[in-house]
Amino acid sequence: MNAQVLGEHEFGYNDHDFEQVRERLYRRAGISLAASKQQMVYSRLARRLRQLELRTFSAYLAYLDQHPEEWQPFINALTTNITAFFRERHHFDQLVALAREPQRRGRPLRFWSAASSTGEEPYSMAIALHQALGERAQGIQIIASDIDTGVLETARRGVYPLERLAQLDPALRKRYFQRGTGSNAGLARVVPELRQMVEFRRINLLDKDWRLSGGLEAIFCRNVMIYFDKPTQVRLLERMVRLLRPDGLFFAGHSESFVQANHVVKLVSRTVYQPVPGASI
Ligand SMILES: C[S@@+](CC[C@H](N)C(=O)[O-])C[C@H]1O[C@@H](n2cnc3c(N)ncnc32)[C@H](O)[C@@H]1O
Repeated sequence: MNAQVLGEHEFGYNDHDFEQVRERLYRRAGISLAASKQQMVYSRLARRLRQLELRTFSAYLAYLDQHPEEWQPFINALTTNITAFFRERHHFDQLVALAREPQRRGRPLRFWSAASSTGEEPYSMAIALHQALGERAQGIQIIASDIDTGVLETARRGVYPLERLAQLDPALRKRYFQRGTGSNAGLARVVPELRQMVEFRRINLLDKDWRLSGGLEAIFCRNVMIYFDKPTQVRLLERMVRLLRPDGLFFAGHSESFVQANHVVKLVSRTVYQPVPGASI
């Protein structure tokens, strides 16, 4: 392995260090980093090295191996958390159509946002469902999970800069957010009615047991599978579909495709899948 230092850096960093980071991230989180992400790894972890007063990546890797509590900051630094309210709007229209189906009346409805990042996705689900079902939405449970504890903290707080809400319909913004005043000017908080519909948990999708019971109406698993290799994707898809009701839906990210996994799911509309008979509970 060429141990040449990669560019001019504050911290010692070489090809071998990058490979070591890559290997650990894959093993812990299933994330396959492309070989082109050397610079990204450096800039994402540099702050952590500075905080720990370490001079080289190899010292950081040794620290990581000796301090299990460092795994979480390591993972938090390396995940990509881009998200937005009502990303892929058509998914939310379909979610509403599903929730209104007559067979779902009169029973508690449960949903899962499986890589919820900073909360925009599960809160968009809550807004869409609340708007469509009114008081009935109070019985809805949305489990929202992520591997990254930093984004989960932001999601639980439910406070966003107003710019994040700019794309939202003004009527929705008014109904479902409280504008901050004084030192909170420029921020808005999700209303309690919505926050009580969403339960945030840390779940690593690689975990053997997600501690989730089946009977879910829909799973949003968007823009996370792209970080996993194909065998991991298919394994996770099989496990998720088992948690869905037979008439439930699986929502994928805009660049994710599971048409090859036709033993588990069938494509019903753009990036939306239904379990094939026998694949769900
Ligand atoms: C790009 S965001 C997607 C957010 C949202 N689903 C959306 O589509 O807007 C990807 C999220 O997947 C999470 N993630 C990555 N690996 C994970 C794993 N092994 N288990 C659970 N979440 C993971 C990241 O922390 C990140 O918040």
